[in-house]
Amino acid sequence: MSAPNKSYDPVEVEALKPEEIARRRDEALTAIAAAGDLEALREVKVAHTGDRSPLALANREIGALPPHAKADAGKRVGQARGQVNQALKARQEELEAERDARVLVEEAVDVTLPYDRTPAGARHPITTFSERIEDVFVAMGYEVAEGPEVEAEWFNFDALNFPPDHPAREMQDTFFVRGAKGERDGEGSGVVLRTHTSPVQIRSMIDREPPIYVICPGRTYRTDELDATHTPVFHQVELLAIDEGLTMADLKGTLDHMVRALFGEGMSTRLRPNFFPFTEPSAEMDMLCYVCRGESVGNPDRPCRTCSSEGWIELGGCGMVNPRVLIACGVDPDRYSGFAFGFGIERMLMFRHNVEDMRDMVEGDVRFTRPFGMEI
Ligand code: PHE
Repeated sequence: MSAPNKSYDPVEVEALKPEEIARRRDEALTAIAAAGDLEALREVKVAHTGDRSPLALANREIGALPPHAKADAGKRVGQARGQVNQALKARQEELEAERDARVLVEEAVDVTLPYDRTPAGARHPITTFSERIEDVFVAMGYEVAEGPEVEAEWFNFDALNFPPDHPAREMQDTFFVRGAKGERDGEGSGVVLRTHTSPVQIRSMIDREPPIYVICPGRTYRTDELDATHTPVFHQVELLAIDEGLTMADLKGTLDHMVRALFGEGMSTRLRPNFFPFTEPSAEMDMLCYVCRGESVGNPDRPCRTCSSEGWIELGGCGMVNPRVLIACGVDPDRYSGFAFGFGIERMLMFRHNVEDMRDMVEGDVRFTRPFGMEI
């Protein structure tokens, strides 16, 4: 084994010469100062402080020095590396601060700027559809009539020939505002949220002289829970015609005209006997299924989802105005006769547009209304 080289001089080892170390250090400091962004600085860091960097290599040489030379060389290299690391750290902080300041400017969002894509929105299909129905009748000379939604029980029931104990007046159907059945408050008629638009028939007959032709769309209320097929607040359209010589044939012709106007040529309606206190005779009205036009009936190869292959869709009620109602409104039943019908708009919208859940019409989500677009 050879003895350690006591006369070994660190100054003589090229990499450890003071001027060489100073040169390497200065190179590193210049590169650090020149690094324009964090990415460039990362490369400078690898080149000047990494394992293969000149100062790291110089540091390794120290291990081979004789003990008395180690301290001196170690100090020199250590100081140089310390300066480089400090400069790196300082530049790193500088560049990070610059980046943060730039991001704040570049990515700032001015929430006060005007929003240039205000969605146009759309009217609710219940509104546009009732207006279409009104238009069909206004074109034939009908007037649009309205009545209050908070209605006297007399208009909603009594004048329409509902006996005092008719089940429709019971709590489960009617929202009583004042004076529920059997507990009237002595002020005459109770007050209800109208359960149908038929009280507008009464108001129209009291307000006008025959001939009367009115169409009455409006909001109606019944004590149903909101679910896929019921809503406690819904809409009906009522029609009333009072004139000399009107017959069931006029009613039928009017209904046929309406379904053609709303659903297209070739449509028709049919009547089935039914009972309403305010019409006599009364009927349930169905319209031809506008999808299969009746062709799914008895034809298992072409089932129809819209009418469940029945061929007909139930629309609502109708009939000839009961003479008792005419008398209650001061209309002479010997001279005048009339017909009326009423149906629910939600129901009609549901099958016209394949809306499967009644709640979609109630909740006010624009994703439901928007596809219906604007109709003016
Ligand atoms: N008002 C009735 C209902 O809500 C419908 C109807 C209107 C029936 C007009 C006959 C005539 O069920």
